[in-house]
Amino acid sequence: MTSHLHPVQVHHPAPATYLAARSIDQALHALAEGLDGSARLIAGGSDLILEIDRGVRRGIATLIDISRITGASDITVDAERAVAHLGPMVTHADVISSPVLVATALPLAQACYEVGSPQLRNRATIAGNIVTASPANDTISALLALGASVTLRSIRGSRTMSVEAFITGFRTTQLADDEMITDIAVPLLGDRQRGVFVKLGNRSAQAISVVHLTVVVAFDSNGNDDGTTVRDARIAIGSVAPTVVLLGDARDVLIGRPLDGTTIAAASAAAEFAVRPITDVRATGEYRSETVRVMVRRALEVLAANRQSESWPPHPPRLSGRDRPSPAPSETITGSTEISAEVNGAEVRAAGAAGVTLLDWLRDRVGLVGTKEGCAEGECGACTVILDGAAVMSCLVPAGRAAGARITTVEGLADAGRMHPIQAAFVTCGAVQCGYCTPGFVVAGSALLAECPNPTSAQIRQGLSGNLCRCTGYNAIVAAVGQASLPEESRR
Ligand code: FES
Ligand code: FES
Repeated sequence: MTSHLHPVQVHHPAPATYLAARSIDQALHALAEGLDGSARLIAGGSDLILEIDRGVRRGIATLIDISRITGASDITVDAERAVAHLGPMVTHADVISSPVLVATALPLAQACYEVGSPQLRNRATIAGNIVTASPANDTISALLALGASVTLRSIRGSRTMSVEAFITGFRTTQLADDEMITDIAVPLLGDRQRGVFVKLGNRSAQAISVVHLTVVVAFDSNGNDDGTTVRDARIAIGSVAPTVVLLGDARDVLIGRPLDGTTIAAASAAAEFAVRPITDVRATGEYRSETVRVMVRRALEVLAANRQSESWPPHPPRLSGRDRPSPAPSETITGSTEISAEVNGAEVRAAGAAGVTLLDWLRDRVGLVGTKEGCAEGECGACTVILDGAAVMSCLVPAGRAAGARITTVEGLADAGRMHPIQAAFVTCGAVQCGYCTPGFVVAGSALLAECPNPTSAQIRQGLSGNLCRCTGYNAIVAAVGQASLPEESRR
């Protein structure tokens, strides 16, 4: 019968067991026990949940969730070596929120800010981005240009290598089945170094890169003494080859020359000739080649003028209160395990949390159907809930993550029957038509207002960039969030 079904209609078995690891050692031992491929680590889950659902990853019996390992989300700085160490659960949002990384690893922060939406950035990890190894993964060009390295651990031992050496081909890496990334070491930019990340996508949020690139230059501190002669340079470009590539020719053009118009023109032309991008659904190869030249030129001009920080927003909304994750449950969760969670301020107990998403568990097992499924792939935001203080796409969260967690759904926004200000504002501003997207918008909007009580228009648009509406149009929605931020007596 399945041969008559469209591929998206075919049901693929989901992992029947969920284990929330409490330590890296526990995760590695559980991984080693499943070396037949039946166990797999899950961090943010933004790729893996989809791959399982689509049958790309088959035969996984156990998901080992590492998202609640103490210390795994830490960012530490070795000032003596000028290196930042990122744990395996450091998310894109963590990087954006790190003043030290924004100040001294700006291209990585800029790349993280360009990824997906606030809800995705609250879950998706840098380690996951590296392991996926897609040439379109934005953080990889930043990590290559900064010269980052990864440490892999298994119960057999550990090894460290550059990110460049780690990625071996299109979506392939050196990671063995029993290994996990436990550390990402990112060299920090010094006084005479500058770096910038630039991306072209087909829209400004939730877009896979047509081209992304990072340029890092180091200037001579003596020699010519003009402060503009390039001592070293690294240019990494993504979405133009099977892997993100470091460009040697363009680098050679830059070294030993002043970063002026002539050098910049020569380097950007060298970059264009160095890539042979393919044509795909996002752009033609010719368009990508031309775009590489323009983007490298603009990046180098920005660095020459020392304006690389100008586009960084002062307070990028995160849609997260930065609460610590709730403690991981100790028991292994199967379909019959009854888990307990604090949902909308009340304890809920329900089974059926293995092999399904948080969205499905909330709707089908807890009976809270306000949270909607629009796309089931992290694109539309209709499924937004607050999980341990952070807005997330619940369609990409394994339901076992709910065990012991604090969750707020749209049903939990009203207070004793009185609408949340954002719900009232959606009514008065006419920000609803069919209403299917509305639960996601009001949950994301409530998280934005909790974080930024007086958001600017730019912050509202950025905070809602993970939510799509097919019918209302966005002006009324943005106006509603703005109105909800006003003092009560000033609202309509
Ligand atoms: Fe989850 Fe669309 S983002 S249903
Ligand atoms: Fe219909 Fe937004 S009101 S999808």
